Amino acid sequence: MKFFVDTADTEDIRDLAATGMVDGVTTNPSLVAKTGRNFFDVLKEICAIVDGPVSAEVTATSADSMITEGRKLRELAQNITIKVPLTWDGLKACKTLTDEGTMVNVTLCFSANQALLAAKAGATFISPFVGRLDDIHIEGMDLIEDIRIIYDQYDFDTEILVASIRNPNHVKEAAKMGADVSTIPPNVLRSLIKHPLTDKGLADFLADWEKTGQSILDT
Ligand code: G3P
Repeated sequence: MKFFVDTADTEDIRDLAATGMVDGVTTNPSLVAKTGRNFFDVLKEICAIVDGPVSAEVTATSADSMITEGRKLRELAQNITIKVPLTWDGLKACKTLTDEGTMVNVTLCFSANQALLAAKAGATFISPFVGRLDDIHIEGMDLIEDIRIIYDQYDFDTEILVASIRNPNHVKEAAKMGADVSTIPPNVLRSLIKHPLTDKGLADFLADWEKTGQSILDT
């Protein structure tokens, strides 16, 4: 499963990219606004840090304007992926942009039928928002399972990009269900490695080694 980091904070991206675990980045207007920086400056910097797909969301609502914005955004870097909302206009823009060879991430997906429409529109990625479904007491990961079943029935190329991830369990369940990508907030990505027994086990190993008085490099 690919890991994208879900942020527009370039310091977080740089720090996490150094682990070798970052396969791409997703942004959205809220994440960009949070930086307080110019959208194009942020995207250029992100694309210089990460080689994988970098999602940049259009802000227009009509298909023609989304297409115009997408054509402008894709000029920034070859790994720019245009994010469009799951609306009829977004799907029209998706079809046009993917036909032109541009990667498109269809976002704000909350149902299997929406995901089916996005695949038929040729989406490169579909972004089902699991955390926001959980927020309204609907099991978000059930949607991932449904989409995986549907996409595999028809051999759709669209990749399932699990979004709105809130905790490590979302990442584990996404991997178990065969999602193609999880886009993970920086704090959740950093927490994936944590386990108290790992920390304790390492401390115990090193304490016992210390008692031997030996050193690998000095031998
Ligand atoms: O990529 C979409 C993601 O940023 C939305 O997450 O936590 O605002 O639901 P959230």
